[in-house]
Amino acid sequence: MTKVITFASPKGGVGKSSLCINTAAYFFASNYSVVVIDTDPQMSSYDWIAESDDPLLKHITAFHISSEQEIAHFIGETDSDIVCLDMEGNLYNSMGFCLAIADLVVVPCRPSRDDLVGLAWVKKLSEAAFADHPDSNARVVALMNGIDQNSDVFSHVKRQITQDGMEVFNNFLSQSTEIAESNINRVSALNILGKSSKEIVGIGQEMGLYLEGQDN
Ligand SMILES: Nc1ncnc2c1ncn2[C@@H]1O[C@H](COP(=O)(O)OP(=O)(O)OP(=O)(O)O)[C@@H](O)[C@H]1O
Ligand SMILES: [Mg+2]
Repeated sequence: MTKVITFASPKGGVGKSSLCINTAAYFFASNYSVVVIDTDPQMSSYDWIAESDDPLLKHITAFHISSEQEIAHFIGETDSDIVCLDMEGNLYNSMGFCLAIADLVVVPCRPSRDDLVGLAWVKKLSEAAFADHPDSNARVVALMNGIDQNSDVFSHVKRQITQDGMEVFNNFLSQSTEIAESNINRVSALNILGKSSKEIVGIGQEMGLYLEGQDN
């Protein structure tokens, strides 16, 4: 059955598209069929895939779809195992819909107060969206991005988010030139085979566990 992972935050630049593309590559490398839906008019994920020669990303098709009806139709018809859905960094009308149709909502968050506010928005909007869509099965989980491993910021922010009533991935993505380069060179970080690649694998595995948990 198709699983939908929505990458959401109304805050711009938190890493939605980077995580969407890199985890799509992870799932493809793990023998799942994967498509990307980019709902963002900036089309960052769509262009990344369309312009890529990466041996993993070449097997992933990206679609730019923004209407709720078309997204619902696409998800109803696709035989892909995983749909990675990239949202725009904005508070916009279809946000609740994109949260409600997910199996897993991943909310990237840098260690900044503004990003924590973005997280609170997703929590609030998802609660409203799930009330409107009582059949929704989505788990909403924060994912820390841009972490400096030499500081204890991850554990501090993780504790804060947990106290605020939201789940947080145990895995995180460090601030890394590999991630920036993967975007510039239109490849996946898995292709660069550095520290970020290992982190993406850890994140993808943890996402897989959340998705398996949805079936139990
Ligand atoms: N862990 C990281 N290390 C280094 N650079 C990163 C990291 N995560 C993201 N970036 C860079 O930050 C910028 C914003 O990332 P990205 O486009 O993924 O964010 P976004 O949430 O999708 O933004 P938007 O809201 O504008 O769609 C990009 O240039 C990306 O390469
Ligand atoms: Mg983006």
